Order: sequence, then structure tokens, then C-alpha cells
Amino acid sequence: METCHQTRNPFSDAESPAVGVTLEHVSKNFGSLMVLKDISLTVEPGEIFVLMGPSGSGKSVLLKHIVGLELPTSGKVTVAGHDASDPATRGKVRMALVFQAGALFNSLSVYDNLALYLREHRIATEAGIREKVMRALQILSLENTARKSPSDLSGGMRKRVAIARALVQEPQLMLYDEPTSELDPVMSATISEIIATLKDEYRVTSFVVSHDRSLALSIANRVGILMGGRLLTVAPPAELRDPQDPVIADFLNPHIDVKNPRFKQLES
Ligand SMILES: Nc1ncnc2c1ncn2[C@@H]1O[C@H](COP(=O)(O)OP(=O)(O)O)[C@@H](O)[C@H]1O
Ligand SMILES: [Mg+2]
Repeated sequence: METCHQTRNPFSDAESPAVGVTLEHVSKNFGSLMVLKDISLTVEPGEIFVLMGPSGSGKSVLLKHIVGLELPTSGKVTVAGHDASDPATRGKVRMALVFQAGALFNSLSVYDNLALYLREHRIATEAGIREKVMRALQILSLENTARKSPSDLSGGMRKRVAIARALVQEPQLMLYDEPTSELDPVMSATISEIIATLKDEYRVTSFVVSHDRSLALSIANRVGILMGGRLLTVAPPAELRDPQDPVIADFLNPHIDVKNPRFKQLES
């Protein structure tokens, strides 16, 4: 019998509600290096949350806590109410991470890169795998790349393949680490549109780490700004177009002063 679900999944009619994420007073040290400092944050089910911040501010480390690749020194991370540091959580919530560099296997075709997860987890028959893989490629307009090696594709296409590979896992939570880095502005806009489309059509929760201002301001429901391991603010994009805080303003709209260059200040 057909039931009406709040959430649609691109690959099945199975109910797969988008999930929320919480961080409660999370701190992370690597030896004496304090990378995350008392971070508390809630990501709502179905929202696009973009975490911005300069290089080295702790964005990737924070993201790894959500998928359980890093454990907090203190504090707690939960996904859909489950402890993110418990390996069992990954069996309860479907999370897919799109790595910064794509992490694709060049020795495998695009098709086999996407099929790998499904084969390893024996999720479907080869016919079922084929259907899921081709559907994901179609969503990202990559049908013609199925037989190619990722190394033969452009940077933008490789990013799309990495997103497609995450999508075949039928995620409730998609995490992206710098999805537009190294892309030209047009391709960055395409990737931003893809993230927004996946959220709208399939209502996954999206956690995006990026220092791409236009991505954050165009697709985020809320933006968090991380600097030096502290979460300075969480605000809807509209509130960040003209930030009052000078530190946040300088990060989002850096002022270039050739008469008083900041790299000279750093040297002194
Ligand atoms: N596994 C690790 N061991 C030690 N230091 C780390 C580790 N991972 C990240 N760091 C350090 O944590 C800081 C934040 O890194 P990261 O989260 O990758 O920054 P970004 O905001 O650029 O993603 C950096 O100083 C980095 O060198
Ligand atoms: Mg990073």
C-alpha cells in the first residue's frame, strides 16, 4: 500500500527521514594543540548547514567527528540522537562523506567506483546495483562517464562523481568537505546547485565545510563560522551579508591593502 512519506529517497520508497546532528561542548586536542574549543551546535534535519572558516581553523576535524573518524577529547556528538563515537551508529544512520579530494579509485571505472560500496556491503544484486548506479549518474548528468576512469575527467566532473558515489549509499546525512575547492566559479555554482537540489528533492541533511562565500550565502539555511577552533557565530546567510563583527567581516570580505600588506605584518 502506498503511504505518504515526508521524505523521499532517490533510490527507494523506503522511509528515510533526514536526521539532525548535535555537538555539545565538543573540544578536541591533538597533543598540546587545541583544535576545537567548546563547540556547541545543532544541525536540523533536512537543513543545509555550511561551516566556514579559514584554513586550519578545524573545519575538517569537526566534520570527522560527525562521521566518527575523530573522537572528541571532551563533549559529545550525536547523529539522530545516537552517539557519533559509537561505531554502531554507522549501522543505524546512513551517512555519506564527500571527501575534499574525491578519493576516487583511478584504477576503477566511474561505474565501478560507484558500485564498490554496494558490492562490498552486498546491498543489491548486480541488476539492482546497475539501477542504483545509473540513477545516481543520471541525477548528476554523468551517464556518459560510466566506463571512463576518474583520471580522464575534469576536476568538476570528478567532484560530481564523488557526490554520485555518496548518493548511491542512500544517505540521510550528506557531508561535504570543500566540495568546490579548485573549481572555477561556474563549476562551483553547478556544485552548489547540486547540493541544493539534493536537499530539496531528497531532503537529506547536508553538512558542508567550505570557505566558498558564494556557496555559503546562496545555498545555506544557516552558516557557522569557525575561527581558531571556536564557533564565532551561527546565522542565516542574510545576516552575514553585512556582518557587524569586524573579524567576521574581514573573513567574509577581506580588504586588500597593497600599501599595508598583511603578509608583511605576519612576518614581523
Ligand atoms: N590527525 C591530526 N593530528 C594532529 N593535528 C591535526 C590532525 N588533523 C588536523 N590537525 C590539525 O588541526 C588543525 C585544524 O585542521 P583542519 O580541521 O584540517 O583545518 P581546516 O579548517 O583547514 O579543515 C590544523 O592545525 C591541523 O594541522
Ligand atoms: Mg579542511
